[in-house]
Amino acid sequence: EKGGYDYFMLKEIAEQPKAVADTLLGRIDASGSLSLDEVRISPSELREVDKVVVVACGTAFHAGLIAKYAIEHWTRIPCEVELASEFRYRDPILDARTLVIAISQSGETMDTLMALRHAREQGARVLAVCNTNGSTIPRESDAVLYTHAGPEVAVASTKAFLTQLVACYLVALYLGQVRGTKWGDEIQAVVRDLSRISCEVERVLETMEPVRELARSLASKNTVLFLGRHVGYPVALEGALKLKELAYMHAEGFAAGELKHGPIALIEEDLPVVVVVPSPRGRSVLHDKIVSNIQEIRARGARTIVIAEEGDEAVVPYADHLIRIPATPTLLQPLVATVPLQVFACELATARGNEVDQPRNLAKSVTVE
Ligand code: M6R
Repeated sequence: EKGGYDYFMLKEIAEQPKAVADTLLGRIDASGSLSLDEVRISPSELREVDKVVVVACGTAFHAGLIAKYAIEHWTRIPCEVELASEFRYRDPILDARTLVIAISQSGETMDTLMALRHAREQGARVLAVCNTNGSTIPRESDAVLYTHAGPEVAVASTKAFLTQLVACYLVALYLGQVRGTKWGDEIQAVVRDLSRISCEVERVLETMEPVRELARSLASKNTVLFLGRHVGYPVALEGALKLKELAYMHAEGFAAGELKHGPIALIEEDLPVVVVVPSPRGRSVLHDKIVSNIQEIRARGARTIVIAEEGDEAVVPYADHLIRIPATPTLLQPLVATVPLQVFACELATARGNEVDQPRNLAKSVTVE
């Protein structure tokens, strides 16, 4: 049932191109309009939405952090992202014009379920992004968009995460479409980019041997830091979470711009620091800033592991290890940038003799608060 792989996690990492393609399949017609699976939220209600709040836990929360960039950019609707476990305890401001998006692979996470129940009690509409047909979270929501990742068995979430991103991009485009904020050409261009992305994920998977080698060489380290900016920041958080849960190492993700506000004090000789570099095209200001961050940490002795687009030559002089990813539009970069981090964590776990599919102390779905 592991299809020839040693671990479910490896199988699920390898299934990502298909999972991404399946999540797009049949959802967008030629005119660029999206269909949700089960919608009890009408286009006129969606036009009234004045705030989006994403609630989720763990890896799904990281998908939500990335969704915020897409939703605000494509729809101009303010979007907050909150850990489901914190949400209802702060008395959030919600009403019938709030759209709450609950992201969950299992559809059974108690924290997320309690958050969505609270939101509905306050009159908000809830859209579930979920991987498990008929589970509790979609049943209790007003609408659902299923991620078609197929069953995810390994505790560490991989293919579900990529498909959550795809689903969130689709929701953002749909909102943009019903509200008329983004029409025609721009939606179609994004849809075209999205439909190509599963091949790019495939290409990343084909080049992972050096990442595995690098991971093995770091098996005796205690700490790894992850830096990113813009959508690369949640990717850094996700890379750190994977490493914690699989390799039981101290790992932290930071927004690269925060370095000088504290974390740079952690840098010491030979400390591995993974940096997710934004595209040099598009938001080139961010690119240049992160290149100086890499220079700064390297000057203080860090061992820099740089994830950068093919053709980005500016990073080469400062990268102790360079991991190349295909060029993608800025907002879609997490779909390719996360994959090496999953492989990295999985290989480190193996090298440290850990149980990959069933990390200690963790359950696949957390059904208690
Ligand atoms: O089933 P869910 O998506 O609601 O689960 C949320 C988290 O428990 C989950 O993503 C967890 O963080 C993973 N083990 C991370 O790999």
